[in-house]
Amino acid sequence: HADPLPVHPTFFAGRDSVVIAAPAKLNLFLEILRKRPDGYHDLESLMVAVGLFDTLEMRAAPNGAIALTCEPATLSSGTDNLVHKAATALRTRANRPDLGASIHLTKRIPTQAGLGGGSSDAAAALVGLNQIWKLALTREELVAIAAFIGSDVAFFLSLPAAWCTGRGDVTTPESAALGSGTDSGPCFVLVFPPVGISTVEVYKRLAVPNEPVSGDRVRAAYRARDAVALGRAMFNRLEEPAFVIEPIVDRIRKRLSQLNAAGAMMSGSGSTVFAPCRDAREAQSVAAAFTDSRPADEPESRVLVVHGFTP
Ligand code: C5P
Repeated sequence: HADPLPVHPTFFAGRDSVVIAAPAKLNLFLEILRKRPDGYHDLESLMVAVGLFDTLEMRAAPNGAIALTCEPATLSSGTDNLVHKAATALRTRANRPDLGASIHLTKRIPTQAGLGGGSSDAAAALVGLNQIWKLALTREELVAIAAFIGSDVAFFLSLPAAWCTGRGDVTTPESAALGSGTDSGPCFVLVFPPVGISTVEVYKRLAVPNEPVSGDRVRAAYRARDAVALGRAMFNRLEEPAFVIEPIVDRIRKRLSQLNAAGAMMSGSGSTVFAPCRDAREAQSVAAAFTDSRPADEPESRVLVVHGFTP
């Protein structure tokens, strides 16, 4: 018996075309356990999807070509784009080099932001193309391809929340979910500093801890949907090296933290900083206070309020 396929919001599904939304993620907890012989790091992370989405419009094409277009057009649509990698890896795995597709990616999730945007796009491509190419691969088969594309891709096949181990690619779904747009559950203020951070650079400067922090407290707070307890328990080992690379991100985090009862933290390898709030009203007022109190010598950041994501 195969696992159910991941639930991405689908706006349109035709016979040979589909439009799928790819959510951003936040790391509410991220601890590094050890450096591995293959150069990656074993980690533990609580990842949750939030209501900020790229969209992928996919249509099967008869000519065996994979054609990607992106919006904004400044984004790479070449073979280095993870959507391209996903499409190629999927048809290779299915032994079907004849399959083609035209894919249009609308990008809303900032890049180099610690939000997993590229990984989420890749996962959505796997799900969508599996459908329109009628390959009927199981979730487990898609997960195996996902791990080959990037460490975070598997998470986006475990929506809306998961406890992630290994190099991030071993996921245990969290049954509890934060609020969606339809209720008054926890929300997040997202701050996008005007600088991106390279994941590779962050890992280069990382000091692996002798005694890793436990994620038990943050998991309990998450399950209780308690934004303030979540804020007290949240932890990210990658903050320290990221703040060395871009001190402005720490400055922004400190200022946001002072404005919010539950504090603030960086997501993943940065540069996005987020503040968990009890509800949308509180999040809107924290966001407004953050924008209004910006010192003249701090560069302007884009600010957004998002809900947790429930399929
Ligand atoms: O897997 P992905 O290609 O997204 O990882 C990007 C880089 O981040 C890797 O090349 C590696 O340097 C670092 N990384 C790591 N340990 C992880 C995930 C990523 O060292 N668990």
